Amino acid sequence: MSRSQIIYVLAILATGSLIVIGIFAASRKPQDLSQPIEFSHRIHAGDNQIACLYCHTGAIRSTAAGVPPVATCYECHRLVKLKSPEIMKVLKYWETKQPISWVRIHALPNHVYFSHKRHVLGGIACQSCHGDVQLVDRVSQQAPLTMGWCLQCHEQRGAPRECETCHK
Ligand code: HEC
Ligand code: HEC
Ligand code: HEC
Ligand code: HEC
Ligand code: HEC
Repeated sequence: MSRSQIIYVLAILATGSLIVIGIFAASRKPQDLSQPIEFSHRIHAGDNQIACLYCHTGAIRSTAAGVPPVATCYECHRLVKLKSPEIMKVLKYWETKQPISWVRIHALPNHVYFSHKRHVLGGIACQSCHGDVQLVDRVSQQAPLTMGWCLQCHEQRGAPRECETCHK
């Protein structure tokens, strides 16, 4: 390869990685996402004291906490606040059997293994990792979700710190 060809290849590689970094940055911007329905944790988990696990049943059963299906909303909203335009949207999803496409806020990289069940059954409150969700209309990421953050608590609580714990 001539010198100019090498520079050309390097330039292409650099552009490629900039694009990758760009996509990565865009996909990791967690705050201020608008949701398909104006769902408020303050109204549900705060004012009306509906338990987190009522909607996030996965949190004690599996790795993912999960978001509730429309059927869970319908259990109450077939009766509650029917005249609200936002609830009409909920009923429309129910009637057309469409899932509500909630925008996901938290996401660890794929190479990390995390289990809600282990932590929640281990007695750690949702709020230690997610903040006072019951006080806010819209959830945002509160903890940094970095490796240092995981390890700091594992050290404090005597939980495993071997690499294979979190990287299978
Ligand atoms: C256990 C009962 C219950 C469940 C389950 C439930 N809600 Fe609600 N929701 C309520 C109550 C109670 C209110 C407050 C109603 C009021 O202001 O009079 C409310 C209010 C709302 C409002 C505000 C309506 C307005 O215009 O003021 C929206 C939007 C809403 N719920 C969406 C949902 C969605 C989406 C789901 C499913 C993910 C859901 N709810 C599940 C009981 C429930
Ligand atoms: C009535 C049902 C309901 C209850 C009760 C509820 N949630 Fe949620 N939760 C939802 C829905 C629907 C979403 C998706 C929309 C959103 O992000 O607001 C969600 C999203 C979340 C998210 C963000 C998920 C993501 O995309 O990363 C967290 C964290 C969360 N809830 C924690 C909690 C905690 C903690 C409690 C109890 C204090 C709780 N929730 C109570 C329905 C509920
Ligand atoms: C030890 C910290 C910790 C605790 C305790 C915890 N979470 Fe999470 N939560 C996380 C992390 C980390 C993620 C991102 C997981 C991923 O991307 O795989 C997450 C993601 C979520 C999500 C969205 C992704 C999913 O798993 O469906 C919801 C909803 C959620 N948590 C709700 C809850 C609720 C409700 C509780 C309490 C019952 C709870 N969490 C307790 C750390 C925690
Ligand atoms: C607030 C404290 C806390 C934070 C933050 C935390 N953990 Fe944990 N973790 C624990 C405790 C305590 C246990 C042991 C639970 C038990 O008794 O089973 C545990 C257990 C685990 C286990 C199961 C270990 C085994 O025995 O196989 C995994 C996997 C894990 N954590 C991953 C993570 C990851 C990944 C993160 C960060 C994204 C994280 N944890 C953040 C406290 C925490
Ligand atoms: C308690 C959970 C946990 C343990 C134990 C753990 N990690 Fe991680 N690791 C994470 C999380 C979460 C991330 C992703 C967030 C980040 O990059 O900080 C990560 C990211 C990484 C990355 C990618 C960093 C990057 O910049 O993309 C490497 C490499 C890594 N870990 C190596 C290790 C090694 C080696 C060990 C053992 C000495 C280890 N991890 C132990 C949770 C853990």
